[in-house]
Amino acid sequence: MDKLKWWQKTMVYQIYPKSFYDSNGDGIGDLTGITQKLSYIHNLGAGAIWLTPMYSSSMIDNGYDVSDYRNIAPEYGTMADMEALIHEAKKYDIRILLDLVFNHTSDEHVWFQESRKSLENDKRDWYIWRDAKPDGSPPTNWRGIFGGSAWTLDECTGQYYLHTFAAKQPDLNWENVKVRQAMYDIAEFWLDKGVGGFRIDAITYIKKPAVYDDLPIDGPDRMGNVHQATANQSGILDFLQEFKQAVFTGKDIVTVAEANGVKAEELKYWVGETGIFDMLFEFSHISLDMEESSLWYQPIPWKLTQLKRALSESQRATSNNGWYPAFFENHDQPRSINHFFPEAVDAELAAKVLATVLLTLKGTPFIYEGQELGMTNTAWPSIQCYDDISSHGQYQLARQAGLSDQEALRFIQKYSRDNARTPMQWNNQKNAGFTTGKPWLPVNENYRNINVACEQMKENSVFNYYKKLAELRKNYEALLQGRYQELLKSNESIYAYLRILPEQTILIICNFSDKQTAYELPRELIINKLLMGTYADAPENRLRSYEARIYLCEGSNVL
Ligand code: GLC
Ligand code: CA
Repeated sequence: MDKLKWWQKTMVYQIYPKSFYDSNGDGIGDLTGITQKLSYIHNLGAGAIWLTPMYSSSMIDNGYDVSDYRNIAPEYGTMADMEALIHEAKKYDIRILLDLVFNHTSDEHVWFQESRKSLENDKRDWYIWRDAKPDGSPPTNWRGIFGGSAWTLDECTGQYYLHTFAAKQPDLNWENVKVRQAMYDIAEFWLDKGVGGFRIDAITYIKKPAVYDDLPIDGPDRMGNVHQATANQSGILDFLQEFKQAVFTGKDIVTVAEANGVKAEELKYWVGETGIFDMLFEFSHISLDMEESSLWYQPIPWKLTQLKRALSESQRATSNNGWYPAFFENHDQPRSINHFFPEAVDAELAAKVLATVLLTLKGTPFIYEGQELGMTNTAWPSIQCYDDISSHGQYQLARQAGLSDQEALRFIQKYSRDNARTPMQWNNQKNAGFTTGKPWLPVNENYRNINVACEQMKENSVFNYYKKLAELRKNYEALLQGRYQELLKSNESIYAYLRILPEQTILIICNFSDKQTAYELPRELIINKLLMGTYADAPENRLRSYEARIYLCEGSNVL
């Protein structure tokens, strides 16, 4: 049997530093705060932390607008704090994975400051500059991912620059070899400091199309989503192979790339031995309710069979190529309980259903801060309450399409990235124990019941359920290495699958509906014992509302 690498046997805990823990009372989470909570993360069972950007930044996208890749944002601390975090984490056998934001910089980065000065500047070609159309309008009708044109006119030289995301996030020109080398050097700089690997941000956008044409209009602003023009363009793999050779090859690190727009059949070029990264975040299971154009006010209804098909397809695709990074949440997504279940759901049971799947699919589970507590969405009364830049863009689009303020707000409440960014809920004290000052974003009001301190005490809390699942993964090899096989495929209430090794088979079976549901398993499958469940008992052949169970099965030659 293959020997698994360290990152295949552990779980990754994702931290959004601004919202995790504030050690100095300024209302903003910081690096020292993370260091102080390492034992908590260790106790949960995670062996790595994906830290979203902590570099110097103009902070319009909370760190994804980097102004200096080799320095730390002062609100998060100092380079010494960062070194201490890496060092202390090692003592807990936790490796720190950094977020490489390499598609764009902040417009406050010195490179861009230089680039914009003149057509002849040394750094002019480090970014993407184009002339206006003859009528003075932007070079193409592309809409940036956060809304508005993907082009901004720079008065100084009269040309437009391209930004896939916000105007303060100009795209780098990866065609320029000096740009590429500068990025590789940055990655090396952090490897020298002892980080354990990288999550690579928005990497499918680095290669631009050969020709810049207008897109078909797909929104009320008469623009087309830039994603359609710039995601996963041919030639991108040449850049990425070079990146791999220059930085990753031969090192004991892990790489996981955010790869919107890569299809399952292309996976072999992206991951594994011959590919580039170890893992790829793809969004098929997360974006069932959203059109490609990502207009939040136009969600589409979806069924459980679609979710199951998406997950099974990803499991199949990664069974030979690479390895699956399982996730239901991150800092860009609403809370999973609200994303996957109706409003009236029993939130605790729903959280446990998702935990069960997350930790038993074949792959490395990624847990986003607070998910292990069953944290939920918030709903604020006006668009002004929202910090997230994409919420504002989406609100504008909804209003342009004729929705009322209240209608538009409803979609922001459901999909805003701020849902994931409210402060971590540590205890039932003021500000959920996140800060002694004024939190930069309001704490979710449900913190009195949903918080670390309460859940650690309560035996059947969501937190303790995660811990038990993490233990189970350690004790049952089939959960790490076993082949995945889906059962009851057409069932619209139940998601069931096996993890199969020659000497061990495990059945995972979850009811995603609020109805008691009977089921029939294949005759060959003989159930041996219940390993975990979310109700006190386990009547045969039926699951109650939002019930999850894990069984050890008899024999090896099942199915
Ligand atoms: C990625 C990040 C997101 C960020 C964007 C621009 O999608 O996950 O948070 O806003 O890239 O860097
Ligand atoms: Ca602070």
